[in-house]
Amino acid sequence: MSNHHLILLFLISCLAASCTQEDIPNCHADEKVLHSLVSFPLGVAVDQTELNFNEAYEQIVSQQFNSITPENIFKPQYLQPVQDQFSWEAADQLVAYCMDHDMRLHGHTLIWHNQLPFWMEQFQGSPETWEQMMKTHIQTVVKHFKGKVTSWDVVNEAIEDDGSFRENIWLANIGESYIEKAFQYAHEAESAVKLFYNDYSLSAKRKKRDAVIELLNSLREKGIRVDGIGLQMHIAHNYPSNNAIAKALEEVWENDYLIHISELDIAINPLGREMPTASTSRLIKQAEKYKAVFEAYQEVPADYQHGISIWGISDRDSWIPSFFGRDDYPLLFDAMYQPKPAFCNLP
Ligand code: XIL
Repeated sequence: MSNHHLILLFLISCLAASCTQEDIPNCHADEKVLHSLVSFPLGVAVDQTELNFNEAYEQIVSQQFNSITPENIFKPQYLQPVQDQFSWEAADQLVAYCMDHDMRLHGHTLIWHNQLPFWMEQFQGSPETWEQMMKTHIQTVVKHFKGKVTSWDVVNEAIEDDGSFRENIWLANIGESYIEKAFQYAHEAESAVKLFYNDYSLSAKRKKRDAVIELLNSLREKGIRVDGIGLQMHIAHNYPSNNAIAKALEEVWENDYLIHISELDIAINPLGREMPTASTSRLIKQAEKYKAVFEAYQEVPADYQHGISIWGISDRDSWIPSFFGRDDYPLLFDAMYQPKPAFCNLP
């Protein structure tokens, strides 16, 4: 390379570096209403206590989103803490909030292996009594929220990354048919509500995605109603690739399933290195990835767009640091509820 070329290269890289500095998106949350800038429902996972007692949090929820997913309180542990004793108070408060604010409510989740009440984990009985117990839970809950919840995650995380069935209490006690039964019971309880299968890594793991689509297609062949697939989308700034995400979305709608990007968050410290603060370069990568996910979703035909839901408001509220035991900053607002580059850069 000649000296001339080297100088040129140097100038180009300086230019690129200063551009990056100047291009850090900066904005005030008050200046935009994100949900009004996209053509699909924009949701967020909400914690009831924060919503009630944290003003900054509540303000972002009501301003920026038009759909809510309860982050925890619709899970069996909270709705049926004691067998046959349902606990509706917190959930009904959230229903009222959604009605007051004209927001859609997505129910999460009926059947899962986590956050089960102790009695359910310890339940003893024949496959028939297990089925009855599952049916009672599903139908009592779906009927209670009839007309108030638009859609349900009926079954959550039932398939492993290699495509096999996840070992859980439902599989062990009822067998593989628990999935179709869960959908059937939910549909019997309310025929108008939209029914989703929800899982993680559906864009990164092809075997898992194939297995889920094959399973749901086989249910439909038996006449069971399944409306859509929730792709949780707990991803990282550098993984999976934008192509992999686009491909996954395409395969899901081409198989005639509504798509809910149901739990979007974008980690910037997936390897769990020490990271007491978020670096500017990672925040920019994160902003680009959020935009890429939204852009890929815009390519989904409107009839198949159930919406994008973000899994929390601020980095202070994210499940990732405590669940995985590492520093991370995966959401659109920082710990002080200020907009991050990712929020400013959207849609
Ligand atoms: C998480 C919640 O965010 C946490 O508050 C809770 O402690 C554990 O569950 N996949 C799901 C969600 O389907 O329900 C999980 O939510 C995150 C992973």
